Amino acid sequence: MCGIIGILGSEPAAPRLLDALKRLEYRGYDSAGIATLDETGKLDRRRAPGKLKNLEAELAERPLSGNQGIGHTRWATHGSPTVGNAHPHVSAGVSVVHNGIIENFRELREELEARGHTFETETDSETIAHLIADNLKAGMSETEAVKAGLARLEGAFALAFLFEGRPDLLIGARKGSPLAIGVGEGEMYLGSDALAVAPFTNKVVYLEEGDWCVLAREAYTVFNEDGEEVDRGVTLVQGGGAMVEKGNYRHFMQKEIFEQPDSTARTIGAYVNALKQTVELPGNNGDAINWSKITSLYMIACGTAHYATRVAEYWFEQMAGLPVKTDIASEFRYREPALPKEGGLALFVSQSGETADTLAALRYCKEHGLKTAAVVNVPTSTIAREADLVLPTLAGPEIGVASTKAFTAQLSALAAVAIAAGRARDALSQDEETRLAKVLTELPRLISTTLALDEDIEALARDIAKATDVIYLGRGVHYPIALEGALKLKEISYIHAEGYASGELKHGPIALIDEETPVVFVAPYDALFDKSLSNLQEVAARRGEVILLSDSRGVKAAGDAPAHCVELPDCDAFIAPILYSVPVQLLAYHVAVEKGTDVDQPRNLAKSVTVE
Ligand code: AGP
Repeated sequence: MCGIIGILGSEPAAPRLLDALKRLEYRGYDSAGIATLDETGKLDRRRAPGKLKNLEAELAERPLSGNQGIGHTRWATHGSPTVGNAHPHVSAGVSVVHNGIIENFRELREELEARGHTFETETDSETIAHLIADNLKAGMSETEAVKAGLARLEGAFALAFLFEGRPDLLIGARKGSPLAIGVGEGEMYLGSDALAVAPFTNKVVYLEEGDWCVLAREAYTVFNEDGEEVDRGVTLVQGGGAMVEKGNYRHFMQKEIFEQPDSTARTIGAYVNALKQTVELPGNNGDAINWSKITSLYMIACGTAHYATRVAEYWFEQMAGLPVKTDIASEFRYREPALPKEGGLALFVSQSGETADTLAALRYCKEHGLKTAAVVNVPTSTIAREADLVLPTLAGPEIGVASTKAFTAQLSALAAVAIAAGRARDALSQDEETRLAKVLTELPRLISTTLALDEDIEALARDIAKATDVIYLGRGVHYPIALEGALKLKEISYIHAEGYASGELKHGPIALIDEETPVVFVAPYDALFDKSLSNLQEVAARRGEVILLSDSRGVKAAGDAPAHCVELPDCDAFIAPILYSVPVQLLAYHVAVEKGTDVDQPRNLAKSVTVE
């Protein structure tokens, strides 16, 4: 989860590298650096700890010249996030930026130290620079040195190399982490994704697993893992050029929360034929899944995306009668699941489409003969390109590390797919499909109404911000929303929070209840409300501070037991979990603002976890 950029340009590279790194900062922000070759071909670099603005200040003090360079923004894997460990790493005129983890770096480091190489950092990435420099010293050309070096590396990497004295050469490689070539007019670029090269070109060549490439200003060559020249085609990427801005919002997360009426409307619009009030899966996916032949559905994801699958599990089982297994990607393939020989469908959910654990699980399922589908927000991502079919979310770029609009877009898409599955399996009648499709189209308006509760929630947040522990409770389809609410709070406010199924409270967690511990109930007035109300009263009886997220009937039924109530608009039970995501997002946001944490780039996190 680092960001990489390389430029062979016709104008000063340093400001352009910085501009590109700003687009990549969501991938990691522990440190950043760039290296360029000046007019004489001399290599030099500037690096700084923390956010990009520190590198910008360093460059203002000590500018770098030259029209070619590489840059990197880091999420630390090996080695603390100090300037010494910041990329680019250099050895004898070879500079490299790396995204990924080299698993055999210690063995390589020992070998290179034995051959006289002196290391200056604790990182795995520095080993790569020394390895290539060692090959050059042995008389190889830059291309031969990189090709031989790549064969020695084990693990995941996206790499960009710049060589002293070679202002007309960039070499890149990808294995396990994404990398793309940007094709310019008399210029050439390398970037972690299309967004990075968007300021320079919309012509992108996506490298595939094991590919490496040699770039000059007028031409590029791509080789596969066996060293054969391959043609990966040029993709014209739409949009993406305009840097996503915060507009009048204080944070990207706040903007993205308030974009949800639009982002869910766009996504629902791609799945629901509003005229016919039927669900039609986008693209050619209408008949790509023969739902009547599917005997088991596996839904695999990480973090917030996993909680989206936990909600969808209820929909697919209840509306389509389809047995579902959900799992977090980092556990799935290591438990060696007993996968069916036929009739299995594996569905992956990922905002970035680059999450290493999710991608590895996708590959595992493909190896075991399952049909694969992916709900992704980036249609050009690796997961999108490797799945048998793509079910897009149209949330637009999500910059805030805490996922919000992507989550409700994922739920919107999954809700539509569950309706389609139910209809295809004759588990839903045409009238039921029409009713559910109509309910789904009401969601954007209801989210808009719910966003009007922002000030009430902000006032509540000032109280919650004083807590050291918070518990979120939900029943049925709202249990995953309790889990998501707890994740949102802890990942941006750093307050410890746990989500539980309400019914689980008395099996242990109730021991945590005291007047210092706020307990958030996600509980619209539905078929399980009475049971939730009993749990709520159990908490209130122990002087726990109850916060009830419900509707008018739920708030009325709860009486004066809750310390605080947030009354959402009435809505159909089908879309309630999507709607109730909004107050838990707003609560986490305002608590984090109250605590003064870095809302858009919380400590230790990155937007896309492209390492296992
Ligand atoms: C969510 O707020 C977190 N940022 C994180 O849990 C995220 O959902 C998870 O890393 C999965 O990312 P993906 O959707 O890009 O695969």
